[in-house]
Amino acid sequence: MQLIDGKAVSAAVKLEIAEEVRKMLAEGKKRPHLAAILVGHDGGSETYVAGKVKDCEDCGFKSTLIRFEDDVTEERLIEEVEKLNQDADVDGFIVQLPLPKHISEQKIIEAIDYHKDVDGFHPVNVGRANLGLPAFLSATPAGILELIKRYNIETAGKHVVVIGRSNIVGKPVANLLMQKSYPGNATVTVVHSYSKDIKEQCLSADIIICALGKPGFLKADMVKDGVVVIDVGTTRVPSTETKSGFRLKGDVDFEQVAPKCSFITPVPGGVGLMTRVSLMKNTLLAGSKAIYPAR
Ligand code: GUN
Repeated sequence: MQLIDGKAVSAAVKLEIAEEVRKMLAEGKKRPHLAAILVGHDGGSETYVAGKVKDCEDCGFKSTLIRFEDDVTEERLIEEVEKLNQDADVDGFIVQLPLPKHISEQKIIEAIDYHKDVDGFHPVNVGRANLGLPAFLSATPAGILELIKRYNIETAGKHVVVIGRSNIVGKPVANLLMQKSYPGNATVTVVHSYSKDIKEQCLSADIIICALGKPGFLKADMVKDGVVVIDVGTTRVPSTETKSGFRLKGDVDFEQVAPKCSFITPVPGGVGLMTRVSLMKNTLLAGSKAIYPAR
């Protein structure tokens, strides 16, 4: 069993990005700039955004954080999105989710100029990615692909089972792994809460991507020997052993499943860090106009 080390890979990717930024600056280009809009004071969102600001520093990016209180109106938020759309200094930006219930997340996502949509959530980027065209890929699927690449895991002709069908993980990762490219060319099955044969599908899987948000869901009797397991779950569970009072638990019963795996990602230290670094990669692509040409 080999542990897939998201910490080491994400650190390596960040160094590569920082080197690219140094080159861009030496060529007289501008420093890539990521902005983030954060609404309210949700603990999880605060932690995510603080991580993104730190990642920007590590990569040599400029970052701007724009905060609103929970009672901000949808109109005001859209006005801010439009301001960022127009701001030539901002290469890419995100609106941290979830948003308060009185604001339509879909409306906000669609208000973002897709040229700056470094989350890859805008329908244009989702559609282009599905078609195999250059696009901003959403961060978690991109991070999973990067791990598969860096560990030279074969995907062509393999049976990949994706557990979970969310718009930001299950659907895009399934789609990317069936593209005519590497990592890709896989036979992909997506299972979800209505599937009747999750265990049978998993038992025939060469690669399992677990993204359903149920801690410890995948058990040893659901996987074959030699399987590759990618655990996307990051549920906060109470813990007396940490300062924060919680710890992150994945969707995989790691103790049970790991001995049967050829490769497995830990939680924490696996996919989560890659998600963060993929946003940085998208910001670099936005800054260097690598996906969409300068307008
Ligand atoms: N909330 C949790 N993950 C994400 C993410 O990747 N992007 C945004 N915008 N919000 C999130």
